[in-house]
Amino acid sequence: MKMTVYHVDRVVRDLYVLRVDDLSTKYFEGLWEIPEGITYNSYVLTLPDKVVLFDGWKRDYAEEFLEALERIIDINDIDIIVVHHMEPDHTGSLTMLLSKMNKQPMIYGHPMARSMLSSFYGLNNIKFVPTRDKMEIDLRDERILFIHTPWLHWPETIVTLLKERGVLLTCDVFGSYSIPRKLFDTVLSEDEIRKYLIYARKYMVTVIGSYRSHVIPAIKKLDELGIKPSIIAPAHGLIWKQNLDIIINAYEDFAQSKYDEHKVTIIYTSMYGFVEEIIDTIKDSLEKHGLTIKTHRFTDKERPMISEILTDVDTSKAVIIGISNYEASIHPRMESVLNILIKKIKARKPTLIITVYGWGDAAKALVKKKLENTPLSPINTISVKAGSKLQQNIIEEFLGKIISA
Ligand SMILES: Cc1cc2nc3c(=O)[nH]c(=O)nc-3n(C[C@H](O)[C@H](O)[C@H](O)COP(=O)(O)O)c2cc1C
Ligand SMILES: [Fe+2]
Ligand SMILES: [Fe+2]
Repeated sequence: MKMTVYHVDRVVRDLYVLRVDDLSTKYFEGLWEIPEGITYNSYVLTLPDKVVLFDGWKRDYAEEFLEALERIIDINDIDIIVVHHMEPDHTGSLTMLLSKMNKQPMIYGHPMARSMLSSFYGLNNIKFVPTRDKMEIDLRDERILFIHTPWLHWPETIVTLLKERGVLLTCDVFGSYSIPRKLFDTVLSEDEIRKYLIYARKYMVTVIGSYRSHVIPAIKKLDELGIKPSIIAPAHGLIWKQNLDIIINAYEDFAQSKYDEHKVTIIYTSMYGFVEEIIDTIKDSLEKHGLTIKTHRFTDKERPMISEILTDVDTSKAVIIGISNYEASIHPRMESVLNILIKKIKARKPTLIITVYGWGDAAKALVKKKLENTPLSPINTISVKAGSKLQQNIIEEFLGKIISA
């Protein structure tokens, strides 16, 4: 039997959070390995004469979502549903909720959300209210301000400010992977927060990596609107009540692709150990220079997580890539890693490429072409015949370049 863990708690006054802990999603978006899990946070505001629901959970948890809602309200009391973002990790439970209600709530969302609600879920006869950017609604005990934040994470994404309560509901923005021990930052230790931020960066890079240029403008926009929330309540992970700056700064660092000056990530394929042998000699030199190395290898024994590779590259100063020639091309595992890296990495990473071959190096030209004019465009691409050694001066030359860069 499925045992679902969820939490219902008060955030402030009459605002509640409903959080479900999802440990069954192994590959978020069918792609990102998350053994640490993820949460979906929905919020309910229970004003004396209006009940407002913000977002929902993934469809897998729709039944439990209704159960959780019933712990605070009668679902038929919901007057307004705010859809911040159409991605089904937040809207998947909507159809079941609406089908169980005996009235039609107003659904507020970005203008684009209307046709998506119709096509995703067949919701055509709904009372939909398109939000305009900076539109405000007055519910007597609370004024809700809608702010459009396109591309965080889809084009139709909005955030809302509960003006009286000082709560900024941010959906994906300021969210993270993992299942924090508690709902709020106030009860976690510094060490727990530090570990949480590693998952947060992984979430940012994997989910919003391609659109990171939209983060700073969105934060600026909130600043210019004079928005200084006392609580940040995202739809994944921790709710920030105390140290809001920590998560805002983490998002700013990510937006600017901030990295660790001493970190180098090595990624390689090795079918029978030839590439590995070469990489091991490079590692010795890197360590002598006091660099921190993160290694990810695809071998007959290991298959690293793409989500971790991407996070490590994003937070590294430089990258070293070892490639096995495979049927006159780049080893297919590396081909797919490179495809993801060039999609998500946005800052220049000095890269050293080593291609290893048995009878003729086809991978070298292919990888050069693939990476040219990308942030990973190689400083040097070296071809080595299986069993031969890499010349030490090539490593030293690369090291010199990354240390002085
Ligand atoms: C399935 C397979 C396909 C290969 N295809 C090529 C090839 O097209 N061209 C080539 O020069 N070497 C090819 N090789 C040889 C390897 O690229 C070479 O042995 C290389 O050093 C592999 O290093 P590794 O064992 O660390 O992966 C192939 C090897 C295997 C096992
Ligand atoms: Fe999303
Ligand atoms: Fe999400």
